[in-house]
Amino acid sequence: MTINTQIEKLRELINHHNIQYYVHDNPTVSDIEYDNLMRELQDLESKHPELITPESPTQRVGASPLTEFNQITHRIPLLSLANAMNEDEIKRFDSQIKKGLDTDAEIEYIAEPKLDGLAVELVYEKGIFVYGSTRGDGVTGEDITTNLRTIPSIPLRIKDNGDTPEILEIRGEVFMFHEDFRKLNETRLDQDKSPFANPRNASAGSLRQLNPAITASRPLRIYCYAPGVIDGVDFVSQHQFLTRLPEWGFPVCPLIKTGFGVDFLIRFYQEAESMRRTLPYDIDGAVFKVNNYGQQKTLGTRSRSPRWAIAGKFKAQQVTTIIENIIPSLGRTGAVTPVAKLSPVNVGGVIVSNATLHNQDEIDRKDIRIGDTVLIQRAGDVIPEVVMVIKEKRPAGSHPYVLPDTCPVCGHKVKRPEGEAVARCGNISCPAQIKGRISHFVSKNCMDIDGFGVKLVDQLVDENLINKISDIYDLNQQQLAALDRMGDKSADNIIESIGKSKKTTFARFIHALGIRNVGINAGKILEKAFNSNLAQLQNSSFQSLNAIDEIGDIMAQSILDFFNDDENINTINKCLEAGITFEQKQSFGLNILKSKTFVFTGSLTKFTRNDAKEIVEGLGGKTTGSVSKKTDYLVAGPGAGSKLKKAESLGVTILTEDEFLELSNSSA
Ligand code: IVH
Repeated sequence: MTINTQIEKLRELINHHNIQYYVHDNPTVSDIEYDNLMRELQDLESKHPELITPESPTQRVGASPLTEFNQITHRIPLLSLANAMNEDEIKRFDSQIKKGLDTDAEIEYIAEPKLDGLAVELVYEKGIFVYGSTRGDGVTGEDITTNLRTIPSIPLRIKDNGDTPEILEIRGEVFMFHEDFRKLNETRLDQDKSPFANPRNASAGSLRQLNPAITASRPLRIYCYAPGVIDGVDFVSQHQFLTRLPEWGFPVCPLIKTGFGVDFLIRFYQEAESMRRTLPYDIDGAVFKVNNYGQQKTLGTRSRSPRWAIAGKFKAQQVTTIIENIIPSLGRTGAVTPVAKLSPVNVGGVIVSNATLHNQDEIDRKDIRIGDTVLIQRAGDVIPEVVMVIKEKRPAGSHPYVLPDTCPVCGHKVKRPEGEAVARCGNISCPAQIKGRISHFVSKNCMDIDGFGVKLVDQLVDENLINKISDIYDLNQQQLAALDRMGDKSADNIIESIGKSKKTTFARFIHALGIRNVGINAGKILEKAFNSNLAQLQNSSFQSLNAIDEIGDIMAQSILDFFNDDENINTINKCLEAGITFEQKQSFGLNILKSKTFVFTGSLTKFTRNDAKEIVEGLGGKTTGSVSKKTDYLVAGPGAGSKLKKAESLGVTILTEDEFLELSNSSA
């Protein structure tokens, strides 16, 4: 075999694998095998540079950067498409076609997804890719040949089936797969470059590079869908044309269908819209074309668009609007979230007037300001968000937005812990958080006030009987008995439970306060370290807290922040004045469950699995997922099944949730 045939064979093989991968989505070699073939070809070519041809697969990149793009006049204009915005407009299109063809018979259509990328034209002479251009204004576009050459799914030489046209012009859409787009943006963020707003913008930006090496680094794809000049081969229909494209080596969208009549069009439109969310690339509608080229010719074109085709558009998922205001809002956990108030717009069929801005970092990164025109998106059911600011439309005199440093609900100073993205209101009496805080305070692992459920908390806060935690201790029997659905007896019981709960432990009280990052275990550690002396804990420094084993920087800072707040101190003092006392336990220490193994099963109703794990581990035990001879206790909630049976057969001690709490609380 001469070197020349060897090189030719390699090129053919590489092209074949390219077609398998990009056209048939069916690679038959591994990436490594493919790379090895490329390397082999590169080696041979570097030894015989006189044999290198421009369409060799090794020659995709390498052209030097341009200073500007030349203009190219399309031999046949690249028309645009008229739009149909809904089913009625699609029906009207079908009637017009029938009228134009002067027939009552159902028309044969071809339906294609409307790919959301950029239209390009590829020109081949004698089967070799000679140049390619953007659509431009439809008549002239930009010469982006060197960039298009870098796109691996564009053949540099069409596959020869003995019917290679003298001139072959193919139109198609350059776009990106979502997955590739996501990775590209991730890399850009890593490199401190701003991410692209969507795959379409990323594709446009990538094709418009003067340096083809940059284009080569972007994961662009092509699907082809329309003929330009084709010299020497005649097609009777779009379907026949699209069938030939893969045989030449051009990728075609796999979702294309043919069918008759308007019902077919409507069905495809609906199917495509529902498929949209799960497709690996963006489509923004469906394109309907009269399939028969003879009929297309009869129908003809208008000045900018053919009469024989229409784009059935979907409702946009990304639209622009104006940020009228930015309002900090407070979540149940005290997190301050900036919310953009938008001029209402329709996004994918839903009127949107709010978008979350997440936090200050996001605002800074996107430089979002009041008055800005922004691109917003609603992906599926998620809360709308701002994709990017259209800087060109920024009004004069705007300034960067900074979240206020006070809570929008209670006016307290908010704190943003180091390393965290969100600022929080740490006021335990903040009205936005009070219900959650009280429910936590009275719960089993905290002050354990029997009968004090979520409904009661709602009622008490709504009736203004409780504004802060310590108000619980000012409640009297009459107030409770007067509440809806509350009898005298229940009121008595609750008052009694409140009284009983005053005798507690230091650890429980600390946990009950809901200090961020401080749970029951931390409570126990602090109890031991400060010997149940609250004043001492209150006045301790960061260093002394941090010096305690198991109290890290974050927890130390949370504790410090919490006690650094007058409102919090005030509430604590009121609780103490109400008679809360800490039992000193002769404790077995923190390790009463030392080396005991627990399994939790069934749907737990009194605590979460995580809480349970924390409790067990805090007391020196451990939890596992399955029952064995080594299991000491099985805690069974409602609906326990096979694990319960196994535990019974192995003679493992079985506890109810309450029994477990009793056991764990015997140390608390
Ligand atoms: S055919 C004469 N087919 O939509 C018909 N266009 O609004 C020319 N597009 O510029 C276009 N998917 O960028 C055709 N399957 C498809 C398409 C498609 C996307 C784009 C194309 C065109 C625009 C027209």
